[in-house]
Amino acid sequence: PKRIRTHHLQRFKQEGHKFTMLTAYDAMMANVFDEAGIEVLLVGDSAANVMQGSSSTLGITVDELLVYAKSVVKGVTRALVVADLPFGSYQVSPEQAVRTAVRFMKEAGVHAVKMEAHAATVPHVKAVVDAGIPVMAHSGFTPQAEHQLGGFRVQGRGEESQKVIADARALQAAGAFCLLVEMIPAELTVELESALSIPTIGIGAGGAATGQVLVWQDMLGLNDGRLPRFVKQYADLRSTITEAAQSFRRDVLEGTFPAEEHTF
Ligand code: KIV
Ligand code: NA
Repeated sequence: PKRIRTHHLQRFKQEGHKFTMLTAYDAMMANVFDEAGIEVLLVGDSAANVMQGSSSTLGITVDELLVYAKSVVKGVTRALVVADLPFGSYQVSPEQAVRTAVRFMKEAGVHAVKMEAHAATVPHVKAVVDAGIPVMAHSGFTPQAEHQLGGFRVQGRGEESQKVIADARALQAAGAFCLLVEMIPAELTVELESALSIPTIGIGAGGAATGQVLVWQDMLGLNDGRLPRFVKQYADLRSTITEAAQSFRRDVLEGTFPAEEHTF
């Protein structure tokens, strides 16, 4: 398709096609991923971590994430752009959720929003969908609820799996076009994919999901912090950039840059 829309993701699932999502926070990286064929770009509240240096996502504001979202939209021609709703900007009431989602659609021009959701958030998801805004629901481990969930832990083990499935069905019924599942057992993702007609996108959720998502700084090896087990590193940008910066500095100190061809 010329432009990826939510119904294409549903069709990928029906046709047994996988798809990919990467985070993006600026126009240039978004443009690279768009041209590489990545189907969905997520302006994640992980910007709090990878762009702002925070250890949690809780502090990022709507105004801050809007700036990143606006930039990403400008960088793409094909990818579906989804923005996270920050912590505190949609939990208060369905009305608050609609008001915040409308800002992301109007001010940034994103194509959909993502909300960390469970049974209690179903009315919020439904209100946003009823306003004409596509919603990706995020369940399993939900980082905005880190302190309630007792830290970064796998969710939906044992009997808890039935609650995850029941919540997922309710979110689908509320109109979510997709379910992102984070850090759940691989077998639970198998069950969710067959229980739902909408596609799932996994992160630390095994291979059964229709889509897979990673944070780009993790995936491209820019982040030198401790990486979660679910990350695969496809490049070592940290070394590449370090070597380039050192070469630049060496050239300047040695007087080999700028050379004749760089000089007016
Ligand atoms: O904010 C984010 O980057 C996310 C993904 C890790 C799923 O929510
Ligand atoms: Na997020």
